[in-house]
Amino acid sequence: MTKKKRLLVTSALPYANGDIHIGHLVEYIQTDIFVRYQKLRGRDTLYLCASDTHGTPIEIKAGQLGVSPEELVARYNREHLADFHRFGVGFDLFYTTHSPETRHHAVAIYEGLRRAGLIYTKEVDLVYCEHDQRFLPDRYVRGSCPRCDAADQFGDNCEVCGATYDPTDLVLPHCSICGNEPVRRSSKHYFFQLSACKEQIARWIHDNGHVHATTANWLQGAFLDGDLRDWDISRDAPYFGFEVPGETDKFFYVWLDAPVGYIGTTQKYCDDHGMDADDYWKRSDDTEVVHVIGKDIAYFHCLFWPAMLAHSGYRTPDRVQVHGFLTVDGQKMSKRTGTAVTASIFAEHLDPQYLRYYYASKLGPTNADLDLNLEDFVNRVNADLVNKTANLASRAHAFVTRKLDGRLGDVDPQAEPVFAEATSRFEAIGEAYASFEFARALRGITEVAELGNKYFQDRAPFHVIRDDPEEARSICTAALGFVKVLAILLKPVVPHMAASMERSLGLSDLAWEDLSFDLGGGELGDFERLVDRVKLKAVKRMIEAQRAAHEATTPSNGSQSPAADAPWTPKPVAERITIDDFAKLDLRVALVEEASPVEGADKLVRLLLDLGDHKRTVFAGIKAHYAPEDLQGKKVIAAVNLAPRKMRFGVSEGMVLAASSPSGVFLLGVNDRALPGSKVS
Ligand code: MSP
Ligand code: ZN
Repeated sequence: MTKKKRLLVTSALPYANGDIHIGHLVEYIQTDIFVRYQKLRGRDTLYLCASDTHGTPIEIKAGQLGVSPEELVARYNREHLADFHRFGVGFDLFYTTHSPETRHHAVAIYEGLRRAGLIYTKEVDLVYCEHDQRFLPDRYVRGSCPRCDAADQFGDNCEVCGATYDPTDLVLPHCSICGNEPVRRSSKHYFFQLSACKEQIARWIHDNGHVHATTANWLQGAFLDGDLRDWDISRDAPYFGFEVPGETDKFFYVWLDAPVGYIGTTQKYCDDHGMDADDYWKRSDDTEVVHVIGKDIAYFHCLFWPAMLAHSGYRTPDRVQVHGFLTVDGQKMSKRTGTAVTASIFAEHLDPQYLRYYYASKLGPTNADLDLNLEDFVNRVNADLVNKTANLASRAHAFVTRKLDGRLGDVDPQAEPVFAEATSRFEAIGEAYASFEFARALRGITEVAELGNKYFQDRAPFHVIRDDPEEARSICTAALGFVKVLAILLKPVVPHMAASMERSLGLSDLAWEDLSFDLGGGELGDFERLVDRVKLKAVKRMIEAQRAAHEATTPSNGSQSPAADAPWTPKPVAERITIDDFAKLDLRVALVEEASPVEGADKLVRLLLDLGDHKRTVFAGIKAHYAPEDLQGKKVIAAVNLAPRKMRFGVSEGMVLAASSPSGVFLLGVNDRALPGSKVS
């Protein structure tokens, strides 16, 4: 047998500005199962991860909380590590991208790309907030869609009509941080000439099982069949990140140094353990590198990353294992309904091993999405883990301790064919683990558990004991052999439960090579309770707790903007005007005669206003805050001498006045005795 290469496995580096939730855990649990399997087989394996620390959202959040970005990411690093620990995710190191090691390799890769002639600079037109003195990333500028005029859209695409555009195209844009109107400003940016690497990337994607065919084909169609655009890898100050060499106010874009965090973390681990990181990242002859990631970031890992590495003197990964997204009861996870359960709330209500088991039972090697169906979750865990494995372990153990003074005996010869039947499945189970086909592995293991249960039931030691206690002892000894085998097979998925099973057999540290029914003739250990039945009630309480936790921290308008948790400050007072300027505004009391939703516009309500001597139509972007039927009969204040505005849905002949604040948008009202058409001054 050829010696297996040493193995480095990573999960994506979680952003250090939010909680770990059950969606993230799909990935960390999946990777951990794979790693535990490899280690169980005795393979030299490292599992590394780190906090992803750089970029605008982290920098802004730190500012809002009044702490340094370093402090903010250190806090999240600690919390994330505690969450991973609860879920049995056993990194060999959980480090940070804000490290000297990652900086060193990010610069080395950048310099390598420059030497290869793949870096150039270009002036780009951007949106700049003079109040905050910063360039605004797409998600930090909002305004009306240049195509359909829908109000309050992000800087990159319109949620109403689906148009995509540049932030500079927005109509009446405003900064999401301070609310002021930004200006255009140009800036020199650094670009990585990805377009020149297209062939190399395509070859890498389709070669050698680097990515699963489902993902390879999708990337081919979505990106490689069209033009591969060069990649803007720099950002202007203020930015939390690494400076571009030779510049003071320009930084590497977070996605340039994030994957380099894999290398930086390897460097740190190797430095601490007297090893050579180049064995992992410069030479590929006796090391394998596997990244596990979600499909949302396949673009960075399968296009940019292999190109960056290949052209800067590093090795490319052997495999990028891409998984799909988690839904809960068939729906996108939601904070509002409580299905976006955080790791810590889950662990407060349910045993984390249940989630490991359930995910494993659903995971395959493709990037298909997976659903956490809450009822199915309860049934699956109870049917397999509790009723089959835990039940066999506790029945056989209890029988020996209570009825047969705790001693094991010779193995029942009649068990041999059942052992053989079970043993014939081991290899396929191992192969399934090794190829990320965990659902298949668990099906094999469940069959082994069923064989064990059936054997125990058929041989009925509880009857046999009356005539022949020694035969009953042999039967229980064989049944406990099944428990040993199940402990080993399940170790990657439910390590704590497997360890309890081992201990109750008087064994420890079993490895894959110990896969036999032989208990070694030692003493039984004390029985340990393995897992309790899951109750749907507990699951419902968990969802309720999550919903309540969300409500407690969110303003009632449910605003999801990146600055949603910013302390609110009123807008600065605008430039001074004269009374004559003010008098130009014609404001009137208007009665809402009709209010209706606008087909195809999520945010707009069409209002027919009665102004006493005439009526007119106005479109207002208040659908998120008012139900149209509640508006009918309301008196509002309207600006009536504005130039009419042509929209995709019709002409808007004015504006209704409203106050907007983090707690919602509120229409300005008026005493009910004021008649429609009355002038406001
Ligand atoms: N920081 C980047 C990764 C940088 S890797 C060099 C990032 N972080 S993340 O915190 O947003 O996501 C971490 C991982 O969790 C990603 O692989 C992502 O796909 C995965 N998931 C996040 N939400 C998920 C679901 N709802 N379902 C499944 N996986 C999900 O992306
Ligand atoms: Zn601003």
